[in-house]
Amino acid sequence: MPELALLEEVVEKVRPLLGQGKVADYIPALASVDAGKIGIAVTTVDGETLGAGDYLEPFSIQSISKVFSLTLALTLYEEAEIWSRVGKEPSGHSFNSLVQVELERGKPRNPFINAGALVIADLLQSRLGAPKHRMLELVRQLSQNDKVSFDKQVADSEYQHSARNAAIAYLMKSFGNFQGDVDTVLRTYFHYCALKMNCADLSKAMLYLANRGKSIIGTELISQVQTRQLNALLATSGLYDGAGEFAYRVGMPGKSGVGGGIIAVIPGELSICVWSPELDGNGNSLAGTAMLEHLSQRLGRSIF
Ligand code: DON
Repeated sequence: MPELALLEEVVEKVRPLLGQGKVADYIPALASVDAGKIGIAVTTVDGETLGAGDYLEPFSIQSISKVFSLTLALTLYEEAEIWSRVGKEPSGHSFNSLVQVELERGKPRNPFINAGALVIADLLQSRLGAPKHRMLELVRQLSQNDKVSFDKQVADSEYQHSARNAAIAYLMKSFGNFQGDVDTVLRTYFHYCALKMNCADLSKAMLYLANRGKSIIGTELISQVQTRQLNALLATSGLYDGAGEFAYRVGMPGKSGVGGGIIAVIPGELSICVWSPELDGNGNSLAGTAMLEHLSQRLGRSIF
């Protein structure tokens, strides 16, 4: 376990970067978040959690939820059923781009861009009676926190600004790669994005990625092989068009969200969550990336 003093050092070292990024402003509920927040939490494979800064303050997890939805899909579907509909390659485009969906005949590049996550939500919607409730149940269990919930205001606001995601879903439907009712699946997808969790919740919830598929409560969520595969996808596509830069600087599988959170793992050792709402040009937390970079340097860890 890293010392608490190290986590505090990471926060203080990076704090001067606040002011250099831009808070997501596509919906009012995100635009009004305090840009000065900064936090980090780590959970070890022994199940111990430690945090510094604003690590107990809940934030909108946004695209970090795409890790949970893919994981849930892996527990419900044969792999071929998933990978025949979504690819495993980095996109080289922004996370909400329509361009590739048209050029590649409705098959998204990977499960972490919006198009891919919408296909995964479509899969969950068609197999689960109550996909929103099931997700809530899963994340509450994984974070050992019954208070985790959906931020209704964020979910509704996303829905009111859903033109681009709806366009992506309809375009995929036109190619036969979207089965459900677009509106219903969009609502489910927006609820997943609107989950509110803090750094401690998320570092606990992601422990299975560092612990060969075993969750913090000791259950095997996905297999060891599936965990390795999921981490490979996170390392190549988890930070969208910034995945190369993130691999270079941080050297860990990770996933970002426009709420300013990033989760990352050191396989066999730790799961980490950082949060700072200001984003860089790729939609990834600017200070969050810097915190992970500093932590990896201080711990002398990289998967490469
Ligand atoms: O659907 C969207 O575009 C947002 N609710 C989530 C995007 C997101 O978090 C991308 N991550 N950096």
